[in-house]
Amino acid sequence: MKRQDSRKGLVKLLQLAYSAEMGAALAYRGHWHSLVTASERAEVRHIEAEEWLHRREVGALLRDLAVHPRLSYEIKFFLIGSVLRGLCNLAGWFWPMYGAGRLESRNYREYAQAADYAFECGQTDYVNCLLGMAETEWDHECYFRGKVESHLWHKFIPMWEETAPKASIRQNYRFHQNLSSPASLPQSKLAA
Ligand SMILES: [Fe+2]
Ligand SMILES: [Fe+2]
Repeated sequence: MKRQDSRKGLVKLLQLAYSAEMGAALAYRGHWHSLVTASERAEVRHIEAEEWLHRREVGALLRDLAVHPRLSYEIKFFLIGSVLRGLCNLAGWFWPMYGAGRLESRNYREYAQAADYAFECGQTDYVNCLLGMAETEWDHECYFRGKVESHLWHKFIPMWEETAPKASIRQNYRFHQNLSSPASLPQSKLAA
């Protein structure tokens, strides 16, 4: 892929992720409020906090690229997140867990794809951060898969596609010297 096309792909994915993180965080706020078990409430609340952090991190990357979030995505995901937030109170225990797992399995692939684009267009200092976010989304998918599989209904409902092992997320980048450190944005970009 040409460098210019990779940059376009990266920008589009980051704009999408920036807004989708808000939608996810709003939905998780409704989700943890709807749960009864204290440990599950705390776990999903923690996932909500991680989605807000992702939004800040993706926002920092967009600023660094001198690109604005897309208003149409912001409106769309605000509406989706708000509807899901309300529905969680009506949907019972199983379906919000199932829906979240299915969505998270897509999220981790999108951040891995964004890391590929970043690498291809020369934004190699973004790669570690994006792979870190892919790993967190992988953890979210794993959490919700475990919850769904603990319920009898999962035997009768088609599960989403199996995820690749977590280690595979960084496999393509092992040769790159700075990627073994913990995922973080350069402080100058977060503070911007
Ligand atoms: Fe996220
Ligand atoms: Fe997530």
